[in-house]
Formats: sequence, structure tokens, C-alpha cells
Amino acid sequence: MRTQVGIVGAGPAGLMLARLLELEGIETVIVENRSREYCEQRIRAGVLEQRSVDLLVDAGVGERLQREGIRHGGIHLQFDGQRHHVPMRELTGKAIVIYGQTEVVKDLIVARLENGLPLLFEVERVAVDVDRAAIGFDHDGVRRELECDFVAGCDGFHGVCRASIPAGVLRTFEREYPFSWLGILAQVAPSSDELVYAHHERGFALLSLRSPQLSRYYVQVAPDEDVAAWPDDRIWDELHTRTSLEGWTLAAGPILEKGVTGMRSFVTEPMQHGRLFLAGDAAHIVPPTGAKGLNLALADVRILAESLAHHYRTGSDELLAAYSHECLRRVWRAEHFSWWMTSMLHRLPGEDLFDLKLQQSQLRYLASSEAAATSLAENYVGLDVV
Ligand code: FAD
Ligand code: DHB
Repeated sequence: MRTQVGIVGAGPAGLMLARLLELEGIETVIVENRSREYCEQRIRAGVLEQRSVDLLVDAGVGERLQREGIRHGGIHLQFDGQRHHVPMRELTGKAIVIYGQTEVVKDLIVARLENGLPLLFEVERVAVDVDRAAIGFDHDGVRRELECDFVAGCDGFHGVCRASIPAGVLRTFEREYPFSWLGILAQVAPSSDELVYAHHERGFALLSLRSPQLSRYYVQVAPDEDVAAWPDDRIWDELHTRTSLEGWTLAAGPILEKGVTGMRSFVTEPMQHGRLFLAGDAAHIVPPTGAKGLNLALADVRILAESLAHHYRTGSDELLAAYSHECLRRVWRAEHFSWWMTSMLHRLPGEDLFDLKLQQSQLRYLASSEAAATSLAENYVGLDVV
């Protein structure tokens, strides 16, 4: 088998890269080790920056997003029993759109399969030969090899692509956080008009949504928390306590899904070796507090697609050589923002009163200074230049 760009992973990065290359007339094959159902049902991010929305719409896969996505012009920060609105649209001229990552993935899979383009699910024993730009894998019980001009490693944090780069080439930068998020999807109308990021003595809580009938809520829990220790009543009690406000109540409903997500910051440099290019979570991870993971993945593949198209049009590798540097500028801005939001809003095990006073002061500053609120807002909606 031969193709121009072999893509490992059918998450948002891999699928979107394939779509952008398709529009440039560049051939791709995607290999994915999970089933289509698994990829379409995995519940993850939900916040799209305007730039991500524009990319999906311009690529012709934004029709349902434009119909069903829910635009939000602000967020609430809650602390000391009060809620403060950060009017992001007023401060930056931009908004965000709530549309589940699962929906983005479904739309991209449908578009690819409708066009009859190769997307192989449930492949096994994927191995990348970096020097030859070849991908080996088992499909339907048969060992195959895909020879490529380039390989795109879009296989997430635990994938094989980053690990296939020889030792000593990459530098990694990493931080683990001593807490996780327990996330739920509940069949109940959202109780708040905006997302709520709540700082509370019992820990962080976040109120988000997926649709007018579906709420997506999170609470900070211990890093190794067992979901089994969280029956529905305990989750609702904790959410009520951490988000309570006079004259406002959080409506409860049937919980459709729950899961625990660990928190880490991670960057690998460079995001390329030879003809292997890493994109999305394969190259970097942010803690979810700033809602940047999915947006970064889409930003990477936009640059990668442009660089590959430039190569095929002109024969020049100039843009491909600049890919990693170009992405890392945005990545590090998002790393800082996500770390900062995370540090400001969570209770740290073993923290002393000094840490708490700093968090409270920072939150009061954001609630009272337009300059401080604008800084948060412009990072949250996505900075153009970094
Ligand atoms: P992924 O979505 O991880 O896609 C990688 C794909 O590669 C997957 O389909 C995987 O099955 C496949 N793959 C892996 N290994 C192989 C292999 N060996 N061979 C072939 N295929 C392989 N971000 C936010 O902004 N907000 C959130 O609330 C949020 N919640 C999250 C919750 C969880 C549990 C996780 C894991 C992440 C969350 N994120 C969140 C981050 C966000 O979802 C990711 O940044 C985003 O999925 C990155 O897209 P990606 O395509 O790079 O990677
Ligand atoms: C969601 C996730 C986030 O990490 C965030 O900061 C905001 C919203 C969500 O899943 O809806």
C-alpha cells in the first residue's frame, strides 16, 4: 500500500488533517486502533474557539455545528459565594461555541466515508518506521505496510508515533497535578446561562453543557479517584455545595455517563523528526481547565496541512521545516494559560493559607479589573498572535 500522507489516529487531529489535505487534492490513509463506535462515543472536550469553528466551516464540515452549536459570549467565575461575569465578547469581540468533540468527530467521519476515502478502524499492532516513513499494522488479521511520503502522528498522548522517534531527539517538559476531574453528562437542562468556573473550599467545580437538554458538569477529585466511590447522589451533593448561590439552584437529572480524567501539562520539542510530524495530544497535553486541548489539536493540523500543501505545490520544504516552531508558540501560550487557570481554581492537597490567599486575591482582581479580565478573556477565546 502507498499513500502521500499516512495518518495514525482518528481523533479530531487526524480526521481534520485528512479533511484539509483532501481539499488540497492530497491522498491520505487513516489507521485507527479503536472501533468507529468507540471513537464517536468518547466524551471529551466541548468548547470551540471561533478560529476552530471557522476552520471546520471553511472545510465544509460545519453545517451541523452552525445549526446546533451554542454560542457563549462570557463565563462566570464563582468564589466566596458570589458569581462574577467575565464578558468575553465585550472585552475581545469574540465568543466561543459549545459543540461536543464527539460531534466534531462524527461529522468528520461521515464526510470522509461519504467520499469513499480510506479510514481503517480496529487496526492492531501499529508500528511506525520513521526512517522509511512507513506504517505497519494488522487489519482483518493480515499484516500490512503503508509506505508514505510523510507520516502524521495524530494518535494522542498514549500513541506509538512519539515513542517511535529515536531516543535523544526529543526534549519533554512535564507537570502532573495532584488531582483529577470527575466529569458527568446529565440529562437535564443547564441551570446557568453561562459556563461557571467555581473556586470552593471543597475543591473546583465546573458547570458546562452540551445542548439545551444535556448538562456537562465536573468536580475536582483525588488523582486516583475510583468512579465507583461516586454514586449519583454524592456527585449532586458535591456539585450543589460547590456551586451554591443564594436565589439559584442547580437542577439534577439522570446521569448518563461518568468518568475520571487525570491532569497533566506536557510538551515535546520538536514536534517533528524526519518525515514524521506529531500533532495534537501526541505532542502536547494541557490540563482541561482552559478548554484548550481540542483547539490546539485543530490549530496544529491547520498549519501542518498548509505546510504539506506548500510542499506538494512548490517542492519546497520551507514551511514543513518551520512547522514545529510555528505550533510551539501557540502551544506554550496555551500551556501557560491552562496551568494558570488550573492553579488559580483548584484546592491543592497540603496547600497553606498563603496559597489560598493568593488565589482569592487573583480572583478578586479578575472580577474587578477590566485589564485582568481582558487578559483571561483573550486567552480563553484564543489569541491570534502569540
Ligand atoms: P485524541 O483525541 O486522543 O485522538 C487520538 C486517536 O488516536 C484516538 O482515536 C486513539 O484511539 C488513536 N490511537 C491511539 N493510539 C493508536 C495507535 N497505536 N494506533 C492507531 N490509533 C491510535 N480538552 C478540553 O479542552 N476540554 C475537556 O473537557 C477535555 N476533556 C478530556 C477528557 C479526556 C478523558 C481526555 C483524554 C482528554 C480531554 N480533553 C479535553 C483533551 C481533548 O479531548 C484532546 O486535546 C483532544 O482529544 C486531542 O485530539 P487528538 O486528535 O490530538 O487526540
Ligand atoms: C468543558 C470542558 C472544559 O475543560 C472547560 O474548561 C469548559 C468546558 C466541557 O467539557 O464542556
